[in-house]
Amino acid sequence: ELAMKEIGKDFLWGGAIAANQAEGAYNRDGRGLSTADIQPFISGADPVDLHFNDLDSSTYEKYRNGAYFYPKRQGVHFYDRYKEYIDALAEMHVKTLRLSISWSRIFPNGDDAEPNELGLAFYDRLFEYMKSKNIEPIVTIFHYEMPLNLVDKYGGWANRELIDLFVNYGQTVLNRYQHVVKYWIIINQINLIHKEAFASLGILKDQADHYEQAKFQAIHHQFVASAKITEFAHQLSPTLQMGMMLADTLTVPYSCDPADVKLNFQRNRMQYFYSDVLLRGEYPEYALTYFEDHNIRLEITESEKELLRNNTADFLAVSYYWSNTVKAGENTMDPNSTVKNPYLKENRWGWSINASGLYLCVSKYWDRYRVPMMIAENGIGFRDVLTADCKVHDNYRIEYHQEHIKALLEAVREGANVFAYCTWAPFDIISAGTAEMTKRYGFIYVDYDDEGNGSGEFHYKDSFYWYRHVIDSNGQDL
Ligand code: BG6
Repeated sequence: ELAMKEIGKDFLWGGAIAANQAEGAYNRDGRGLSTADIQPFISGADPVDLHFNDLDSSTYEKYRNGAYFYPKRQGVHFYDRYKEYIDALAEMHVKTLRLSISWSRIFPNGDDAEPNELGLAFYDRLFEYMKSKNIEPIVTIFHYEMPLNLVDKYGGWANRELIDLFVNYGQTVLNRYQHVVKYWIIINQINLIHKEAFASLGILKDQADHYEQAKFQAIHHQFVASAKITEFAHQLSPTLQMGMMLADTLTVPYSCDPADVKLNFQRNRMQYFYSDVLLRGEYPEYALTYFEDHNIRLEITESEKELLRNNTADFLAVSYYWSNTVKAGENTMDPNSTVKNPYLKENRWGWSINASGLYLCVSKYWDRYRVPMMIAENGIGFRDVLTADCKVHDNYRIEYHQEHIKALLEAVREGANVFAYCTWAPFDIISAGTAEMTKRYGFIYVDYDDEGNGSGEFHYKDSFYWYRHVIDSNGQDL
């Protein structure tokens, strides 16, 4: 049988969520407004068009001050109901839950002199409860939300001041939770700055004279902040494991036409840029050339270069959902520019299904970096149907995870060192991209709808029992 021996007894099977998509309670216990709180759900819009990402100032003002329904303000009430959720996960036998801390719960304005004690206390309770159920927390410090004040007053991550503000927040949570949290991911999907510029960088596109340059300068600030937080953590305790994270966006060429092959190569190399800096500790030549060719001038100091060199990440976290195909002539270097792969099926949001892509990406990252890896997210969104007797027969989801876990185990068998597999998401939460509730990923059906109504009851889908069995057999029986 495939690979089974290579998955250790302590392999972390689990799931992943983010604070802004689950917690709700957006204005409670001193929490400040965050960028996620102003993302509306627009009923009747084509899900494919429900983007919230490349925002300009006027759309920002419209959403900020408009009378929309903002699903992330209530999430799935995880803040109040976390014990019920953790109990259900314990019943599924998960060993880990990756989740994030809401920055504006800890520093409501991002630049406050003191952290908000009530916000810190919530995560004390949560992590302690998880520990009592033997669920290991893997904590993301920054997952697609930041105090809104940092957009208004500083212009988001394009501003160098964000480095110290974020480092202060990072140090605060590391100090506080160092004894309960061993694994940390500093920034969610750091490479997704093209479509996700607002969610990940807090930049409004009309505020920068040179938008591309502003985004890469912002990324530089995230790199430096990551290195500083890593340095701090390593001084604090040698047991802390500090991770960087990529959304896997490696592509394949549409054909063996040399032009497709070359574009594909160049595209992929620019995707390695982020991990090359954070895992190898320096800006690669190909990226410097790219910046020069695109008239992107970055401010990078000598001491920052040294900081990056000396404080590389301990592990690589990767999220994987689908694969991309590029074709010369039609596509450019923009990571959002892709063509459909005729061999693959898609879900209704246009996300293709390709399990072998997970095998490829894990193997490629392993070959390049030789650092421990975790699958931080993997899953498929569907409009699940709840039957009259409250079941969800989600064979499509079982099949998706079955194939992806097989692909992962194949890469492990060939040497990749992977310590965790987190499904996105173990229970239904609000979608990051579209703010829908009904783009469901969970093994546990959570009865809320797109307008935030519903009983909130949990119903275990067929996939719940399947995944529990996978965990019980440590991946031997898929
Ligand atoms: C990842 C994000 O990009 O994809 C998650 O880290 C997100 O926050 C997940 O939920 C799935 O995307 P969506 O838009 O379907 O929720």
